[in-house]
Amino acid sequence: MDRNIAVLAGTGEISLSYARGLSNALGLEMYSVESKVFPDGESYIRLPEIKEGNVIYIQNLDPPQDKRIWEMLLSLDKLRSTGYHVILVTPYLAYSRQDKEFLKGEAISVALLLQLIRSLGAYEFYTIEVHQMNSLKFFTGRALSLDPYPYMAGVLSDKLPHPSEVLVLSPDIGAIDRARRFADAFGSEFDYIVKRRDRFTGEIYMEPKGIPVRGRSVVIVDDIISTGGTVAKAARMLLEQGAYNVYAVATHGVFAGNAVEKLKSGGIKGIYVGDTLPGRDGVVQVELHPMVAREFSWAKELS
Ligand code: R5P
Repeated sequence: MDRNIAVLAGTGEISLSYARGLSNALGLEMYSVESKVFPDGESYIRLPEIKEGNVIYIQNLDPPQDKRIWEMLLSLDKLRSTGYHVILVTPYLAYSRQDKEFLKGEAISVALLLQLIRSLGAYEFYTIEVHQMNSLKFFTGRALSLDPYPYMAGVLSDKLPHPSEVLVLSPDIGAIDRARRFADAFGSEFDYIVKRRDRFTGEIYMEPKGIPVRGRSVVIVDDIISTGGTVAKAARMLLEQGAYNVYAVATHGVFAGNAVEKLKSGGIKGIYVGDTLPGRDGVVQVELHPMVAREFSWAKELS
């Protein structure tokens, strides 16, 4: 192989799976970072000998996130000091929700993380559906957040009801662009959910802004499902308002604690997420590495 670019799998099963996917799709040599844990819990990292000078380094930041981040920083530093030209691909960017000082004194985790990655020599950065696009400004180089919803809409076309029966909803107005991207590709209507408080009982109600859900199948689209609270509450209310079925689609399925049970007991009929985090029983994962590989089709052309 005379192309001067290779794929390097970072630590963890998900990094390995994306690296394999890219290596196969692009016909590039694949290497893996060697890692182990010392008896005292500290991390050990060793780079393989990579013949090519350019490296697409895949390091996902799934749990344990702090350990993965440290392994990534060690690897980036070693890649830089050995003289490699590095493109970093991090399908799930941990800490992306801590993107500003919500309370005075809070650390802006995603800012530090992206600044560290850049300062350790990564010259391009790719992730999938970052929580806030604005966060990418902290990486002072070419940074891309890949939009998975058109791809997921295609894969899910035989798992969800017919587009004409579906109403795609975002859980709030701030996320309506996600619903729009999914709906446009799926061929359905979209809207967002508004929350209102009953002035007498104080209870919170959630309902679509303009389009009634009665008799419709609803697909709630979000970037992350963490505790499941947002989607479960919305599903319960939409079903009370006469929705026929409610499905959840998200890029990143964190599923903290009993999130899956919470979603099921909220009446969700199907849960579909990307494969950026570990899978769970009762959840269908969509493999996103083919979509990532498409971004690197130029590497296939090099010779
Ligand atoms: C919020 O800004 C995010 O887009 C998600 O809606 C949120 O992180 C979901 O969290 P949970 O599943 O814990 O309600």
